[in-house]
Amino acid sequence: MQDRPSTTAEVVCWFRALDQQLPPEQRVVDDAYAARFLTKHGRAALRLGPVARHAGRRLADYIRARHRFIDDVLVAALPDVDQVALVGAGYDARAWRFAEHLGGTPWFEVDHPATAARKAKVVARHDGAWPRPDRRVAAVDLRTHDLGQALTSVGFVRGARTFFIWEGVSMYLSEADVSRALSGFAELGGPGSRLALDFWTTSPPGASASAAQRGRAAVERFAPRLLGVIGEPFLFATPPSGAGPLLARSGWAAVEIATARDLASRHDLPDHAALHAGFVVHAARAVARDPERRPVDSARPAGQEARR
Ligand SMILES: C[S@@+](CC[C@H](N)C(=O)[O-])C[C@H]1O[C@@H](n2cnc3c(N)ncnc32)[C@H](O)[C@@H]1O
Repeated sequence: MQDRPSTTAEVVCWFRALDQQLPPEQRVVDDAYAARFLTKHGRAALRLGPVARHAGRRLADYIRARHRFIDDVLVAALPDVDQVALVGAGYDARAWRFAEHLGGTPWFEVDHPATAARKAKVVARHDGAWPRPDRRVAAVDLRTHDLGQALTSVGFVRGARTFFIWEGVSMYLSEADVSRALSGFAELGGPGSRLALDFWTTSPPGASASAAQRGRAAVERFAPRLLGVIGEPFLFATPPSGAGPLLARSGWAAVEIATARDLASRHDLPDHAALHAGFVVHAARAVARDPERRPVDSARPAGQEARR
């Protein structure tokens, strides 16, 4: 990650903007805000010819489907959480897209200052025209800043029921940093907290031999290398069978794991090779984590009660 707005954040936002050009009944995600966050090059690239647009959507199928998966689990969980924390926020527009569902529930975003600043400029440009959720932003570099301190500095309540979103981030960290982040979420959120995230996988589950070969060649090798060139290399991957144990060691119990193939069939997308490289997880904070540890609720500063 360099000190400029994240390129991968714009790329995944671009895929959502491309999805938005489809008729409503054909969209996987419905993100009317995505195009607003694109640079002029990104907006120009949206005006591709029909063949390129079609190919772009194919390439984006998994990215669109993972966003939709998280939309769905978030909306279902919102009545039962006190706050939402979106870590590695990029140009995620859910705070506005789901403003009505949120009501007054606080929405916290954490991102690198360079990306957060660019997002803030776009948001300011639309001040008055967009809904006004209770959205608070911590602009910090998580390589040098503590997530808990960053969140509490903008009003996050430790120990309250939290919905954590960690989308498109785990693959850019080392395994040790992924474990640390997952444990950190479990310590920050109280009982009843939820987590939605995705992983990159090294072994496409259930892919046919030819699909797996093509998937590996086209996606698992080419895409990470390309991302390395733009300064955001992939560092971590796990097969779906590794996700449950990894989460369990970090204080989470997997509620649902959906492979790219599962998502493809859910949204009637073609089961093509590029879909096989990632999977999504919905997890709940494990009840009894480690009897030796101090209960999370007792870590909440006096007078800071969970909302609701
Ligand atoms: C691939 S983007 C995903 C963005 C968003 N979650 C989405 O799916 O649209 C990864 C995000 O992680 C953020 N990020 C990467 N390294 C970071 C760091 N060291 N500190 C804070 N944020 C970081 C980037 O700025 C970027 O917004």
